Amino acid sequence: MVLRAGIVGCGGISRSHATAYTNLDGVTLTALCDINPDALHARADEHGVSSLYTDYEAMFQEEKLDVVSVCTHAPQHAPVAIAAAKSGVNVLCEKPLSIDLQSADQMLAACAEAGVRLAISHQYRFTPIFQEAKAWIESGRIGEVRSVREVGKGRPAGFELMEMGVHYFDEMDFFLGGIAWIHAQITYQGHEVGAEDIMPSRQLCKTDRRDNGIVAGDTMLIHIRGQSGTYGIMELYCREPRQGWMMGPHILGSEGQLMIKPNPDDGRDEMWYCPFDVSFAAHTPQWERVRFDPEIFMIGNKPWPGRHSIWGARDMVDAIRDNRQPELGGAKALTSLECVSAVYESHFTRARAELPLKDRRHPLVKRL
Ligand SMILES: NC(=O)c1ccc[n+]([C@@H]2O[C@H](COP(=O)([O-])OP(=O)(O)OC[C@H]3O[C@@H](n4cnc5c(N)ncnc54)[C@H](O)[C@@H]3O)[C@@H](O)[C@H]2O)c1
Repeated sequence: MVLRAGIVGCGGISRSHATAYTNLDGVTLTALCDINPDALHARADEHGVSSLYTDYEAMFQEEKLDVVSVCTHAPQHAPVAIAAAKSGVNVLCEKPLSIDLQSADQMLAACAEAGVRLAISHQYRFTPIFQEAKAWIESGRIGEVRSVREVGKGRPAGFELMEMGVHYFDEMDFFLGGIAWIHAQITYQGHEVGAEDIMPSRQLCKTDRRDNGIVAGDTMLIHIRGQSGTYGIMELYCREPRQGWMMGPHILGSEGQLMIKPNPDDGRDEMWYCPFDVSFAAHTPQWERVRFDPEIFMIGNKPWPGRHSIWGARDMVDAIRDNRQPELGGAKALTSLECVSAVYESHFTRARAELPLKDRRHPLVKRL
């Protein structure tokens, strides 16, 4: 059976979803929707799609889709996903899942009620290098994992938390075997964040077009406790934006370290290994790049060496065919957003925030 895929929101990330659906076996990119006709036609022309919509409800009613990628900004994720569920369409939703847990819970409930899947598009964990890193860890190659560290791209922390932070939480969930609790401290312009510092994400980060709802703080230090007892550390602070080497996990084990970082020249992930539990400048020559069999990057007859959406989309498509939940489906779809709320809850209560949170209200909105 050929699966019929659609996309709502034809901006930047939709290119990656469209390419995924046109390259996965047994899937056809059937229909596209965007309220902006220029964006809609640009993506349609690239992929030869002729069923085009400016109203997603109409697309769901007319197209009998099997799966839709929700590629709008965060505030529109819940209404689009709920409409898709009501039409019996499986949902692959871009991150962040939504702007708060209450609407995310409604998305999950609507999908469960309709008997369709809801998965979040944190594609990193599905990529071959992340899978290899996990296999190295499980084989004992770096001993016992002590910590996983991540640093933001340099945008104000409240904004960055919803951008890269949610990806990093998913990495932590992947490498730490689940997340137990979070302890965080947040500052804004040098002082501890209070209710007066809560603001819309577009006010906090004027240099990015995306809308991430209500946020707070320009600096965050986040301590993440894994279910396995090991921990993660996330540092988000303002500096000159840099892509490249900053973005990716640094995993310290009792007998060695791993780093997965995208090379700034081509954006492709590289995995590096060092045979020390903690390294100093003198150990620099000991870091070595791990080379992989090029075969592991192949889907069909093409290599996919970056953090392409195809890796997560493939899991969703396989889940539909195999009649199972996707790896990041069901309650797992909520984890990274749950962590965002836990960061704010922990900061304001000055205590650990255990997952899942009992109070589903937005921790910032309730303090306004
Ligand atoms: N997983 C990743 O690695 C990754 C990477 C980039 C972006 N993203 C996420 O993808 C989402 C989209 O980001 P982007 O950079 O592509 O944004 P974008 O601004 O480039 O595109 C969003 C598109 O949605 C359209 N849109 C808005 N409301 C709509 C509606 N009601 N119906 C149909 N279309 C509508 C807009 O017209 C626009 O074309 C964000 O949530 C972002 O965080 C994820």
